This record gives sequence, structure tokens and C-alpha cells, in this order.
Amino acid sequence: MGLRLPDTVTLVEVGLRDGLQSVGHAVSTGTKLRLLQALYAAGVRAMEVTSFVSPAAVPQFTDAEEVARAALALPELRVSALIPNLRGWERARGAGVREVTVVIGATDPFNIANVRMTVDQSLAQLAGIMDAAGAEPGVAVEVGIAVAFGCPYTGHVPLAAVRRIVDRSLELGVASVSLADTIGVATPLDVVRAVTGIRAAYPNLPLSLHLHDTRGMGLANALAALHVGVTTFDGAVGGLGGCPFAPGAAGNVATDDLNNMLVGMGISTGIDQDGLLACGGILRDEVTADLPSHTLRVFLGHTARRGDPNGASAG
Ligand code: COA
Ligand code: ZN
Repeated sequence: MGLRLPDTVTLVEVGLRDGLQSVGHAVSTGTKLRLLQALYAAGVRAMEVTSFVSPAAVPQFTDAEEVARAALALPELRVSALIPNLRGWERARGAGVREVTVVIGATDPFNIANVRMTVDQSLAQLAGIMDAAGAEPGVAVEVGIAVAFGCPYTGHVPLAAVRRIVDRSLELGVASVSLADTIGVATPLDVVRAVTGIRAAYPNLPLSLHLHDTRGMGLANALAALHVGVTTFDGAVGGLGGCPFAPGAAGNVATDDLNNMLVGMGISTGIDQDGLLACGGILRDEVTADLPSHTLRVFLGHTARRGDPNGASAG
């Protein structure tokens, strides 16, 4: 049997959010805006640009409003932000953001570590957010289920725990769901089982995947998900990322690696690979040299040898 592959995939760039939240130092707003512009220039048209979270929990995003406003000024860019609670929605709305992802961990211990709430308390926050946001035209609330495949505190996460959050989220009227492999433990078979399990109950639910490459399974998991009909994936340019509340969590699957694989298989993403690699250059120069992306390593090695920062990409 051949692989079933879509013609088009949407890559949602989360480097400005997931990528930067785990960097150990404050990244300047100027660098964030340069990265935003460079991602946009590369053709990225969907981005999670920041988090409206407590600055005490994640100090990186005190400039959330400013970054969100800059992103909203870019034509045709779908701008989303992560929120943990109703206060996050109020701030996002104040900045003009219309798409938000409400993060809810699939287990109580992780959710408490991440947002100081049990799963049920987060679902109660979600109900409040839907009350406030649900009726507003043009607003789309997504639920991002963290540790959907495995949890640093409880180990394997049963699909029933994920389903419970999906069921309640859909009762409340959320527009879409994202399954996050926060600590990068899923195998392709886990991905297929989770996606087909949820699809069996909700065939028309927009379902996306948020994969971390902690154990090198990111691309394999994405390929498996493509095969069962997923066409939206998060990625962080350069493979930057992690979760400060999940011990040992490493970066998101690199957008540049995903794009390289997809475009190489003839799937359209609208994103220019060389443009993405140029974003990786900004990250390396202004944020960190610790960038796991495979394609970026090839590119940087290539340009270093040539001594030409604009040299041809090997991506
Ligand atoms: N944005 C800004 N400030 C917020 C906020 C938000 N979304 N939510 C709460 N706060 C503020 C409150 O106003 C309060 O401020 P004060 O001390 O000046 O009065 C303070 O934070 C504590 O509020 P409380 O509701 O008791 O929050 P908490 O301390 O229990 O923390 C969260 C809960 C959700 C706010 C916090 O854990 C958080 O922001 N987590 C995000 C974690 C994250 O981003 N993880 C990575 C993504 S997977
Ligand atoms: Zn993540």
C-alpha cells in the first residue's frame, strides 16, 4: 500500500512562543520582531506569536502585547497566542488577537506544574473563556492538549484522558484541537492510534499535531500523521524549544526539517526553505547556537565553509 499524502499542509510556526519560552535568557523584543518579519518573508502565514501568561511563570513574554500587535499588522498572517486562563483571553483580546490556544495538560500532575490547576479547573477556565469569547465574531478558540502521549510525572497517558478533554472542549464549542507530544515520547503508532481514535468519534474535527523531537521521532510521527489525514502541524524554526515545566523536554520538531520533508515529497506549504534557514541564522546570531534542526546544520556548515551568510542552502 502506498502512502496517502495530502497536496497541501499548513505549518504553524511556534518558535516565537514555544521556542523562546525555554531559552534561559530574555530575548529582546527587537529580536522577536526581526524573527517575525523573517518568518513572514519566508512565507509563513500562521504563527503562534506569544503567550499571555503570568510573567512570574514565564518571564519571556512580558512584551506579549507588543509582539502580537506587530504580527497583526502583517497582511494575511493568521496570528494566534497561547493562553492558560480567562485573564489570558482578556489580555489577548485587548491586543486584538482573535485566535487563541488554551493549553490544558492531559494529566493533573503536569497541568498543576504548568498552570497550577487540575485538568477540571482548566476545563472550568475554558468554559469561562468560551462564555466570553465564543460569541465574538471571528474568534477561534483551540484547545492544545499538552502531554497527550506521555507525561513526565505519570508516564504513559491513556487515550481516554485525552478524549475526556476533547469531549468537554467540543461541548463548549471550541473550533479545533491540537495534540501535543510535549516530552517527545510518542511513536508513529501512538500518533496513528490517537488520531484515528479521535477521528472515529469526531470525523470533522480540525485536529493538528504539536510534536517535540526529544527522541528524534518528530519527522517519523509527522509522516505517520500525514498518512492518517492530519494536515496541520506546529513547528519551531531551528528546532528551538522545550517546556520549562516538563523536565527534560527538548525542542519542537524543526519547521525547516518539516518543510524540507514536505516540499521534498511534493506537498505544498507555501514556505520558502531558504527563507526559513535565514531565520535560523537570526536565531543563531541573536538567541542561541543550540539549534537541533538538521537542515539548519547542513546550511550553516555550508555557509560557514563558503564564508557567505547568504550562500546557497543545502536544504
Ligand atoms: N497573564 C498575566 N498575569 C496573569 C495571568 C495571565 N494570563 N493569569 C494570572 N496572572 C497574574 C494574576 O493577575 C496575579 O497577579 P498578582 O499577583 O499581581 O495579583 C498572579 O498572576 C497570580 O494569579 P493566579 O491566578 O493565582 O495564578 P497562579 O500563580 O496560580 O498561576 C497561571 C497560574 C496559569 C497564571 C501561571 O501558572 C501561568 O501563567 N502558567 C503558564 C505556563 C506556561 O506558559 N507554560 C508553557 C506553555 S505549555
Ligand atoms: Zn511544545
